[in-house]
Amino acid sequence: MNDLERLATAVRDADTAVAFTGAGISAPSGVPTFRGDDGVWEQFDQGQFAYGRFQRDPEGFWADRVDLQRAMFDGDFEPNAAHEALAAMGRDGHLEAVLTQNTDGLHGDAAAAVGDGDAGDADGDPAATAADEPTVLELHGNSQRVRCTDCGKRKDGDPIFERAADGELPPTCECGGVFKPDVVLFGEQLPGAVLQRSRSLARESDAFLAIGSSLVVEPAASLPRLAASTGGTVGIVNLESTPCDDVADAVVREDVTEALPRLRELIVE
Ligand code: APR
Repeated sequence: MNDLERLATAVRDADTAVAFTGAGISAPSGVPTFRGDDGVWEQFDQGQFAYGRFQRDPEGFWADRVDLQRAMFDGDFEPNAAHEALAAMGRDGHLEAVLTQNTDGLHGDAAAAVGDGDAGDADGDPAATAADEPTVLELHGNSQRVRCTDCGKRKDGDPIFERAADGELPPTCECGGVFKPDVVLFGEQLPGAVLQRSRSLARESDAFLAIGSSLVVEPAASLPRLAASTGGTVGIVNLESTPCDDVADAVVREDVTEALPRLRELIVE
């Protein structure tokens, strides 16, 4: 039995299977990863997008954020076969939740496309999802939305990014508050409810799949270890090695768009 077959058996037999994803699952959709030769952090300095900079210099932060948004989300990008395989596994009843570090919204799009509902509830609160749907938990928020730092209103990000690109720096809400991309910035705490929920899902999981992540950013990167510590089968699907490979029961060094559709086939075989 190879590692992918072992993972399929673990997911099929699991009461609670959880997927945890990073930028690598969206790379085939044209969304750049953060690390590696052509990673985003080779082109931009992470410090430009830190929470402290947003607070200190919202105008400069927004000017740079417009460039980052263009570099990451240029043109149309769609869910790929890997997103669709996870969404189908959710619909098949084999996946309890998708915890993602990605802010591209593609898991929600894929779930909606297979009729499993979407990430967040009506006003996009990442910690809430409709009761009877597999959970898509956006640990780092969603770059396709902005949120007012005064009244808390969430809005579609595209028109606001356009206003910023046209010189409204920083873009402001009708209430006068400054908009912030609806993501967790470096130096900013993850929303408590989201972190609590992701940790309890990792603890409860009998099968935990870490997919397309370098597993270097905390607190997310501890989730595979947490799953392993409570006896869950941990699988890692990633082109490169990760710091959690040592706790994995199965490591699949394949492209996500090959491995995940194959995994789903093996589960339902
Ligand atoms: N198939 C499988 N793995 C892939 C593929 C692919 N097609 N393409 C890339 N990968 C792997 C890379 O080998 C890499 O290890 O995906 C991983 C992506 O790692 P990162 O770029 O570090 O992305 P991620 O782990 O999501 O980063 C975590 O860091 O900067 C912050 O907030 C940002 O959410 C991000 C966090």
